[in-house]
Amino acid sequence: MGKDAAQEGAIESHLQEQRRFPPSAAFAQRAAVDPAQETRLRRRAAEEPDAFWAEVAGQLQWDRPFRRVREGTFPDARWFADGTLNAAVNCVDRHLQGPRRNKAAILWEGEDGSRATLTYLQLHEQVSRAANVLRERGVDAGDRVVLYLPLIPEAVVAMLACARIGAIHSVVFGGFSATALRERIADAGAVAVITADGGYRRGGVVPLKANVDVALSEGCPSVRDVLVVRRTGAPLSLVEGRDRWWHEALAEVPRTCQPVSRNAEDPLFILYTSGTTGRPKGIVHCTGGYLAWVAATTAWVFDLRDDDTYWCTADIGWITGHSYVVYGPLALGATVLLYEGAPDFPDRDRVWGLVARHQVTVLYTAPTAIRAFMKWGPAHPARHDRSSLRLLGTVGEPINPEAWSWYHSVIGNGRCPIVDTWWQTETGGILISPLPGVTTTVPGSATTPLPGISTAIVDSAGRDVQQGEGGLLVITQPWPSLARGIWGDRERFLQTYFSRIRGVYLTGDGARIDAEGYHWVMGRVDDVINVSGHRLGTAEIESALVAHPSVAEAAVVGTPHELTGEAVAAFVTLKADVEVPDRDALLQELSDQVVHQIGALARPCEIHLTEGLPKTRSGKIMRRLLRDLAAGRQVQGDTSTLEDRAVLERLREQEERPGSD
Ligand code: WT7
Repeated sequence: MGKDAAQEGAIESHLQEQRRFPPSAAFAQRAAVDPAQETRLRRRAAEEPDAFWAEVAGQLQWDRPFRRVREGTFPDARWFADGTLNAAVNCVDRHLQGPRRNKAAILWEGEDGSRATLTYLQLHEQVSRAANVLRERGVDAGDRVVLYLPLIPEAVVAMLACARIGAIHSVVFGGFSATALRERIADAGAVAVITADGGYRRGGVVPLKANVDVALSEGCPSVRDVLVVRRTGAPLSLVEGRDRWWHEALAEVPRTCQPVSRNAEDPLFILYTSGTTGRPKGIVHCTGGYLAWVAATTAWVFDLRDDDTYWCTADIGWITGHSYVVYGPLALGATVLLYEGAPDFPDRDRVWGLVARHQVTVLYTAPTAIRAFMKWGPAHPARHDRSSLRLLGTVGEPINPEAWSWYHSVIGNGRCPIVDTWWQTETGGILISPLPGVTTTVPGSATTPLPGISTAIVDSAGRDVQQGEGGLLVITQPWPSLARGIWGDRERFLQTYFSRIRGVYLTGDGARIDAEGYHWVMGRVDDVINVSGHRLGTAEIESALVAHPSVAEAAVVGTPHELTGEAVAAFVTLKADVEVPDRDALLQELSDQVVHQIGALARPCEIHLTEGLPKTRSGKIMRRLLRDLAAGRQVQGDTSTLEDRAVLERLREQEERPGSD
């Protein structure tokens, strides 16, 4: 538990938060979950859990209805395991029978101003054709397909096309480098890659296909096929026999495609996320339990109705995009807005222009975005009509009360409830969140667990802490959308989440629960950094730095950052014989090295060249000390285990000398 000292400031400001925001009567009156419904759900979850979970999963369309609800417990709980269903059918086909047939499923706007709408009927045709293309190329149920795409409708189509034939998709965020892409393709053993000639970002073009070419040239023998969506029209070379244009391939196949019934426990997708070692973890989610929980939570937390226009600003390369852009909202037959580009391109009012034009009613974004909007000032939202908004959401990191208040008063004009949703890639869906028609919110708290979810705060020995005290956040009962594993690494799955404390799921977050049962999540307690709501492992960045020929050793820590929440601070020692004629050039090279190996979001905000790193006698780097140094704080806590105190002194001196690293 390293970050305690770093978190004290945050805890203080949270403890001072006194304001209460009860739901408005008007909202509560129309909400999907009103107080009576909430009471019923909570009572049922407590008294007849099987009936409760069967009710949740009963909202889906099953090919073969399940008779069994839950079998087993952590780490191997299986849910609805004798039922079969298809996720694409649930997200598309079942809406074709009634009035949603010609309803917009996807409203899309490209960064360059291109626009498109896909109705559920049109989405059905696209998904079916893409599924036929994959099937024709020999992609089978259980095969892995990597998606490396901009945020365009084809990305959603490709995910659902995989789901339709039972292939397991693994979406790799378009901001990841060729090296990171190769590692993920290889780990998953993907047989096909779906990409685009490029995507627009802040006016530039992200060379997605070129990155795929590099990744595949460095040894991904499993990949037989590459499908390329034409997005930018940039000139491109297609590799004969391997690469095909998406639009040409789709035009040549039938417009309907028989979906494959999947067992509820069959994997739906893999999504890589960072952990505490250098290798990213391929988090595996299953079909039935995952879809059941994301659909239920979309209905409860976002209160989606047929007349809503819902916009979750996450990229589909993250779990938020999977659960709350694609699977949850589409399972409910909602209208989803997708926007390809940057929020400040061409101007800082881009987001608010989109809200006004599409009359967005429910907006779900991240604290880092809200802080950027705050910094850019209220004039940008003020230029656009935001009266359509009725509910605001946030996710990704603890939201500071200042940003919460700004979101509430400026963006929502004080009219819209805010749902601060806590969850993780591994949890599949939201676990802790207000219910907007029921819960009194307090800025900075994700409030209470949803019906069916049980939490506790424990110490490192697994004992419950005193009420109000900080500790490790654990989930004490299984729920259906928990990850089923780490791809190809059962041991790591057990080790990471289920071994340190027996009988519960260990989240890796530190938190406290106050007298009213409100949860205050303080952030990670492990070596994971949260930059703009995106998870980065310190070990991953360290190994990127150490790969540089001049570097002997590197230690990376998170440091508080005004906009991104945390930022990457690196401490680097050079090999003894290395001469540094140009310090700035070397720092630039090191920084580029990280971007090259991982992606731009991992770029360090500061790199300190140092003669040594503070270590314990057993050789473990004392990151706690580096965190204090990077944040400009007094080094706190016990330093008696330090192997060489002089190292710390030298680092301190360096910090105090202005202009030096
Ligand atoms: C970590 C999970 C869940 C999708 C986005 C990130 C932090 C997430 C909150 C919140 C405080 C939050 C936690 C968590 N986190 N939401 N509302 N309040 N912290 O997914 O990359 O899997 O990261 O994000 O530290 O463990 P992820």
